[in-house]
Amino acid sequence: MNEHTTFRLISVLVLLLTLGMHVLAWRMLREVLGTDATRRRSALLGVFVLMSTVAVYIALFSGYPLPPGVAKTAIWVFMLWSLLLALGMGMLWLHRRRLRSLEQPTVDEKRRELLLTGASGLTILTFGGAVFDVSSEEDVEVVYKSIAIRRLPAKLHGLRIGMISDIHSGPFMEKKDIDRYVTRLNALNTDVILLPGDFIQNRNEEADPLCESLKVLRAPYGVYGSTGNHEFFADADQVSRELGNAGIIMLRNEHRIIDPHGEKLALIGLDDVRSGHPFPALFRKAARGLDPAIPNITLCHKPYYIEEAAEYGLDLMVSGHTHGGQIVLARLFGAVLTPASLISGYIEGLYSLDATQMYITRGVGMTGLPIRVNCPPEITVITLVKAGAD
Ligand SMILES: [Fe+2]
Repeated sequence: MNEHTTFRLISVLVLLLTLGMHVLAWRMLREVLGTDATRRRSALLGVFVLMSTVAVYIALFSGYPLPPGVAKTAIWVFMLWSLLLALGMGMLWLHRRRLRSLEQPTVDEKRRELLLTGASGLTILTFGGAVFDVSSEEDVEVVYKSIAIRRLPAKLHGLRIGMISDIHSGPFMEKKDIDRYVTRLNALNTDVILLPGDFIQNRNEEADPLCESLKVLRAPYGVYGSTGNHEFFADADQVSRELGNAGIIMLRNEHRIIDPHGEKLALIGLDDVRSGHPFPALFRKAARGLDPAIPNITLCHKPYYIEEAAEYGLDLMVSGHTHGGQIVLARLFGAVLTPASLISGYIEGLYSLDATQMYITRGVGMTGLPIRVNCPPEITVITLVKAGAD
């Protein structure tokens, strides 16, 4: 089973759970409120049906074919609604328990009115909150990181590398959003730019607005990219070709040598490491003919291969994929608490093994749900420094 099918299955499972939660919530509400038909009860039922429809839309159509702004708003509304619904269900459950302990089988009119007002208030809060959240733009954080490379030639000390990953062009990342990141990155005037994958969400046509934006990226030693898993959810060859036409040098299991200040630096790009395409096979192909004495930087979308990278003696690997967890519950003593930790301990920032280092950027886009919590989009500026130099 490939990754895209797994994503789909998880979506359908979440959909079924969500619909189940709606049915249960409505039954609880009806039980507490009684069955007398009033206009407000009918309106609430209407909201339940509408939200269930939105759940089906999200799970099966991933934000298409509605205009991006509408799709994003619908999903935000749904997320907030679900959160508040879960909260409301907890409160209703406690309320029912209390009634039973008092051996009071029904709710009096005053309490019933209070519950209806509460439920209506939650609905208004949901829509209001969602519209506010969609209309407020999330600010990007520029992360500056100095990375010491043991065998870096003195003349490359201070070389600046700009990086954006996981753009995920699609219903939740419009051209105007990408334009903002591109303008910001260009303004940082880095020497070289790296884009380690997940340019699109899952459709070839998402590359069109993306390439329109990316074609103005500029760096004296070039703009380089590698594919991520989401390129393979569409036609990775076609998307890479379009990126190439936009001036991005796509490194697909190949390398290029750049020579800032007359010194050589190898840039190695791997396709997404996936089933049937393991790291060693991709790397051996990419490094064919490369002088191992030349210091190197490898673009590898998924950050799970530092052991292999260390085996091959790589200097620096740059990755994305994790989105920094995307939903971060807390940061404690340098550790990032996020559901993504269940998949891997590599979430964001710099890691090292032997002489190999790996930097994971949080990237700028989102997958699954159009939400980043406690995890702002990141543009990275890496400054290479010679190990031991001041
Ligand atoms: Fe991604």
